[in-house]
Amino acid sequence: MSVERLYLENGSVVIRKVMTEDRFADAEELVSIFGQRIDAPVPIVLRTDARELYMELMPGRPAGLVLPGLSAEAAAPYVRTVGGLLLGVIDAATANDDRHEFNWQISDGGLVWGIDHASVDVEDGVENDDGIMLPGAGSSSSPFAEHWLVRNSSWEETWKTNALHPLDAERLIKQAISMQGEFQARGYDHWWLVIVKRLEAIEEYAKGETPWLKPRQAARPTILGECNSRSSKSTDHSARPSK
Ligand SMILES: Nc1ncnc2c1ncn2[C@@H]1O[C@H](COP(=O)(O)OP(=O)(O)OP(=O)(O)O)[C@@H](O)[C@H]1O
Ligand SMILES: [Mg+2]
Repeated sequence: MSVERLYLENGSVVIRKVMTEDRFADAEELVSIFGQRIDAPVPIVLRTDARELYMELMPGRPAGLVLPGLSAEAAAPYVRTVGGLLLGVIDAATANDDRHEFNWQISDGGLVWGIDHASVDVEDGVENDDGIMLPGAGSSSSPFAEHWLVRNSSWEETWKTNALHPLDAERLIKQAISMQGEFQARGYDHWWLVIVKRLEAIEEYAKGETPWLKPRQAARPTILGECNSRSSKSTDHSARPSK
C-alpha cells in the first residue's frame, strides 16, 4: 500500500492511497460514508479506482507523536470529546481493531480525527439469545470504543450502559439505515445490517437523561461575493454576446 500527500496547484492538500487489495479501498470508502452520515471526524473519501482513493487531509498530528507512549489516562480528555464519542460509534459498530495511536490525530483545541480504516472488517456478527448483536472481537482495543463496551473477565467484549439518550441513538440508527443503498451497491449489505444492529444494541444501553447529540447540519453552499457580482453582471444586457 502507498500513502502520499499531494500538494495541488490550487493550494489544497489531499491524501492519495493505493491499496494492495480492493477490499481495503472498500473499507476506507464505506467507513467514510458511515462517518459522514453521523458527523464523525473521519475523512471524506473519493474512490477513483478499485484500489485507488483520494481523501481529505485530517488536521493535527498522530496521537502517538503528540503524546508519545500514549496511556489511557493521557488519552482520556481526547476520548471524552464529542468527536471521540462519534469515532467510538464507528469503532464499536464496525469492530475496528486498528485504532492504534497512529490511526487517530489530535489537532488544536484537543479535537480528534480518525484516519486509516483500510483494515476494518465488519464480518457477519453474532447475536445473543435475545437477538442483540454483540460487539465484535477486538473492538475494545480502540480507546474510543470505551463509551460503548468493555471486555469482561473472559476477554469477551460486552455492551455497557452509555450516556446517550435513546433519541440520540435513534438518530444515529436513522442515519445508518439511510446508507443501505451505498453499502448494497458495493456488495456489503451484510456489513450494513451488522452496523445497524450494533447501533440498536447501543440504543438498548442508552440511559442518558436528555437528548444531547446535535441534529445533523445539512451542508449549505457558501454564497461568495464573486457570485453576487456575477449575477449583477448578468443583468447587464449590453455585456451579452450578440446572437
Ligand atoms: N486522511 C489523512 N489525513 C492526514 N494524514 C493522513 C491521512 N491518511 C494518512 N495520513 C498519514 O499517513 C500515515 C499513514 O497512513 P495510514 O495510516 O492510512 O496507512 P498505514 O499506516 O501505512 O496503513 P496501516 O496502518 O493499515 O498499515 C498516517 O499515520 C498519517 O500520518
Ligand atoms: Mg495507519
